[in-house]
Amino acid sequence: MLRRMDRRHFLSLGSAAGLAVVAHRGPALEAAMAAYHAKRPRRHPHLDRALLRPPPEVSAANLTLRAAARRVEIAPGVPVEVWSPGDGPVGPTIRARSGDTATITLENALAEPTILHWHGLRVPEAADGHPRLAIAPGSTYRYTFPVIDRAGTYWYHAHPHHRTGVQAYRGMTGVLLVNDAAEEALGLPDGAHEVPLLIQDRRLAADGTFAYEPAMHEQMEGFFGDAAFANGIRLPTMPVETTTYRLRVVNATTSRLLRLALSNGHSMTLIGNDGGLLPAAETVTSVDLGTGERADLLVDFAHLPVGSRVTLVSAPFASPARMGGMGMGMGGMGRGMGRGAGGMGAGGVPQGGAMDLVEFTIDRAVTPRGWTPRPLPTLVLPDPQRATRTRTFRFNSAMMQHDINGRAFDMERIDETVRFGDTEVWTFVNDGPFPHPVHVHEVQFQVIERVGGRARVMPWERGLKDTVLVHPGERVSVAATFDRYRGRFLLHCHNMVHEDMGMMMNYAIV
Ligand code: C2O
Ligand code: CU
Ligand code: CU
Repeated sequence: MLRRMDRRHFLSLGSAAGLAVVAHRGPALEAAMAAYHAKRPRRHPHLDRALLRPPPEVSAANLTLRAAARRVEIAPGVPVEVWSPGDGPVGPTIRARSGDTATITLENALAEPTILHWHGLRVPEAADGHPRLAIAPGSTYRYTFPVIDRAGTYWYHAHPHHRTGVQAYRGMTGVLLVNDAAEEALGLPDGAHEVPLLIQDRRLAADGTFAYEPAMHEQMEGFFGDAAFANGIRLPTMPVETTTYRLRVVNATTSRLLRLALSNGHSMTLIGNDGGLLPAAETVTSVDLGTGERADLLVDFAHLPVGSRVTLVSAPFASPARMGGMGMGMGGMGRGMGRGAGGMGAGGVPQGGAMDLVEFTIDRAVTPRGWTPRPLPTLVLPDPQRATRTRTFRFNSAMMQHDINGRAFDMERIDETVRFGDTEVWTFVNDGPFPHPVHVHEVQFQVIERVGGRARVMPWERGLKDTVLVHPGERVSVAATFDRYRGRFLLHCHNMVHEDMGMMMNYAIV
């Protein structure tokens, strides 16, 4: 009972106050919360918290992934149809070592075309999961590629034309972890203390299925669920020991920006992001992740009383969407529906709304095995001084359309051509009202500058990245070296609604 109250206390503060306030409740807050609880509709009261199950771990060598519709329990006694490349609600966690060869067979037992993309890995064109490689139901696709990237938190997901959003939402996604010797030498928490967390948000319709039919306004701002899922499990709980855990968090939502934080306000140690370990560990109280971005976090449960609970949340924040002009009409509608109607499938928690992600229950006292920050492996970053070219990409949204440089995606059109081996500086300009997590296939870039908006490179944007969040009014420049494979690759917004509607382009490395 108490834990439900605690959860609601947190949620109730969502729109009104910051995270810091949660720890110091006063009488005024208690009253505000009581009023809030009275109004707040209970969503799916029959759903109890399920145990967090880490997906099975598999090797990238001789792996077969069979994509199929399956009924699985996403909470105790609640079976839902998912589309998954494994037996669980999402795909297995694939683990590889740098230097291995991945040989993966995708069997498509879905009723529609699909293809998988290994997000963050640099692979040959034929292994990259470009939408034009999508295979028909009943067909098989074989991927063979060397794992050349450094240790890091990568992930994979379906990437068929116009259907990435719905397929990933239904479960066609998973975590892909790469290890290497430099990382292993650090003695980071492993085994049961290393937890992949693939975060999604979904709406469970009254008929027990996942609803995914973006309404008109959702085709603009994006599609938002009413509850978070980790590894395909709705609002899970995980028993933990009083020691340090390594959480490998992937934002695999359709459209949601996450502000990762702990409900007790404690800090976390950020050691890595999209492209692996950072140049140095950072102490953070929150980390912002757009869809596609990752955070490698050390969380210390030492000294917490057995029986207490701490929740990894997405803390509330003001949506960066600009609610003027078109944005107002569209986004405003989404907000109203999310808060007001409240019921199942009515509109989800709006962008920036507080959400519980994973609850940790302190289950057992052990001698804490801490991790003292020590030098992380040296990182060679693409050098903007060596750039031979700069290019600008303007992201904009017009009525019912999202495009880059004024054009919507055409699978066969090559929009930009890059010379193999070159370093270039690319600037992403957001002219529109919605935030765009911009993702480039086939490179790990260095974020060198952000002008406008937040006007700085955030602590979690150091090191190597493959996805960077560009808020309305921001220009973000990145440096990348295109020196691994020639071929046709993608650049796109990773808000999957935007991506499916055409905010994507081909670039060729020749
Ligand atoms: Cu997460 Cu085009 O990819
Ligand atoms: Cu990708
Ligand atoms: Cu976008």
